[in-house]
Amino acid sequence: MSPAPSDVAARAAELRRELAYHGHRYYVLDDPVIGDDRYDALLDELRAIEAAHPELLTPDSPTQRVGGEPVSHLEKVRHLQPMLSLANARSDEELQGWIERMRGHLAREGIEDPRFEYVVEPKVDGLAISLLYEDGLLVRGATRGNGEVGEDVTHNLRTVGSIPLSIKDAPRRVEVRGEIYISLADFEQVNLKRAEAGLSTFMNPRNSAAGAIRQLDPRQSAERPLSMWAYGIGVHEGLTIASHWEALEWLKGHGFRVNPDVARLTSGDDVIERCRDWERRRGALAFEIDGAVVKVDDYELQRRLGVVGRDPRWAIAWKFPPTTAVTRLVAVHWNVGKFGSLHPYAELEPVHVGGVTVKQATLHNEEDLARKDVRPGDEVIVLRAGDVIPQVVSPAPHVVERTDRGPSPLPPASCPVCGTPTVKPEDSVFTHCPNRDCPGRRWQLLTHFVSRGAMDVDGIGEKQVTMLMERGLVRTAADFYRLTAEQLVELERFGEVSAANAVAAIEASKARPFGRVLFAIGIEGIGAITGRNLAQRFRSIDALMAASAEQIADTPGIGPIVGQLVHDQLADEQMRALIADLRSLGLRLEEEGPPPGEGPLADKAIVLTGTLPTLTREQATERILAAGGRVTSGVSRRTDYVVAGEAAGSKLEKAERLGVPVLDEAGLEALLHGGDPG
Ligand code: IVH
Repeated sequence: MSPAPSDVAARAAELRRELAYHGHRYYVLDDPVIGDDRYDALLDELRAIEAAHPELLTPDSPTQRVGGEPVSHLEKVRHLQPMLSLANARSDEELQGWIERMRGHLAREGIEDPRFEYVVEPKVDGLAISLLYEDGLLVRGATRGNGEVGEDVTHNLRTVGSIPLSIKDAPRRVEVRGEIYISLADFEQVNLKRAEAGLSTFMNPRNSAAGAIRQLDPRQSAERPLSMWAYGIGVHEGLTIASHWEALEWLKGHGFRVNPDVARLTSGDDVIERCRDWERRRGALAFEIDGAVVKVDDYELQRRLGVVGRDPRWAIAWKFPPTTAVTRLVAVHWNVGKFGSLHPYAELEPVHVGGVTVKQATLHNEEDLARKDVRPGDEVIVLRAGDVIPQVVSPAPHVVERTDRGPSPLPPASCPVCGTPTVKPEDSVFTHCPNRDCPGRRWQLLTHFVSRGAMDVDGIGEKQVTMLMERGLVRTAADFYRLTAEQLVELERFGEVSAANAVAAIEASKARPFGRVLFAIGIEGIGAITGRNLAQRFRSIDALMAASAEQIADTPGIGPIVGQLVHDQLADEQMRALIADLRSLGLRLEEEGPPPGEGPLADKAIVLTGTLPTLTREQATERILAAGGRVTSGVSRRTDYVVAGEAAGSKLEKAERLGVPVLDEAGLEALLHGGDPG
């Protein structure tokens, strides 16, 4: 017997309510109370009801987030109230100057000695958007555009989990404003997937988010996980709010994601201190910020202060020191990569960027170089974001108009290291040196082998590898293990002690687990994580070498293209000879940890944060994996432990907020030995 129609309708409504609740816990509060499986089961049930009873489908149903129809173009929309921009302050003086100007302006308005309260927020480096809700339903989402006219991107914004499709106790009309962005972790994932699929990668999270939000097909947009921080209210009817702080409270109470570290302060000095605090925390955040925003809290004061041009007088952006600079591009050189690809890089006239002197910068690949159209002799813009390698962004604006520029640099016709004529495979964005014995390629493979994330050999770095190659002492990775202290002492930079230490460090590296060896020997497509995954899955080099391309492809983080690539390299004669050589020298080519789901930490999810007193992050990760645990990046209710060291940041705060047990290194050691972490 099928249920009565009213029961079905009630069940559908209940499912929508439950799904909205769990979506809010997951996307907005970052604190889920059920697992993905349970959520998916609820969603499937609702989908089934809606399929059988299309009349029960509502526009705010969680089933309507993804899978909407593509649009043919982006419709222009006029904002109901202009979306403003912000003036900048770059120093204490400029911020104090802003406060003085506000006082002056208000004094002329007859308001003497106003009592300012300020709200300080992160300035997230994403894109401003406007969400219009009418009678509680999301009816339109738009980009900022030029502030007056933006583009209708409702179809894509509906896919964003942290944007409510409907709000409860809603006023007649309210416009919510905020910043849409992609987190650093998601950005990395997106680029990884794109690289694997042979697509070009994005320069930064902001570009990736900007591209996603302007897609015509919402399914494309949904592939790049966007998030939103709500930071204000625009037009509203039927809502009484007297201050920005109240607006933020209202937003929080109605399902929007408001940054938990937003602060309300009363003195200019506290505001400056808070801005500097954001600057210090910048590198530890899960998303990119380019400053802090300071707003006068009281709406009446905001109204009195008004707007000059596009900038409100009542708000200002505290900008972090510039990380771009202009300098001259001296020359474009080409590096040979581990697998023969040629990578252009820029030689620059030395310039100060964000506190360091930069002489070289990457140009990514030849397509990127062509698109940027930078030529030797040009003045160029150099960008240094966080700790990543500086990059050349573009020619300086005035350069493009010049008629006396030199020729565009092209990839070399022969390898800059070994002189072999280069080739450009059809399916690659890189020109290659096809010579497998190219010293440039070998140098890259060997320096990678000894590097930190790989075999981690202390005392052997780029300079030592260069010398060892020049002397003919090392040609393949196996040769490192045949070096003697006597040979090393002969070399520059080595004394008796450092030579003995280096030999001991090489010997000690034999203890690196199988997954690391897989990563270290230089197999195209195998990174640190995929190396570990392959080791866990196949458990020995023999099993891996016997596996088919399909079996390899069926490993987390690997797909059909990489699966085939890895398979073919493992079948290669030179590779097999290297593996046999390493095996005879005693490197680990079998997995020794327990299979997944076994060991003292079986199925435990652990997050590492900060610097531990003795273990490096790699070592801690390895020990946890060897004990059957998992190391994850984000803290949630489902995290079992957070191991915190010195200078732990937001992850520690979050663990404390969620009540996730926090351990120090000693606690981790206890866990690893199957004991009580204390
Ligand atoms: S308020 C006063 N608050 O910065 C109205 N903007 O330069 C201006 N932004 O277009 C917006 N975080 O994209 C505001 N907490 C925040 C912000 C923020 C980032 C961006 C936004 C805006 C730009 C203004």
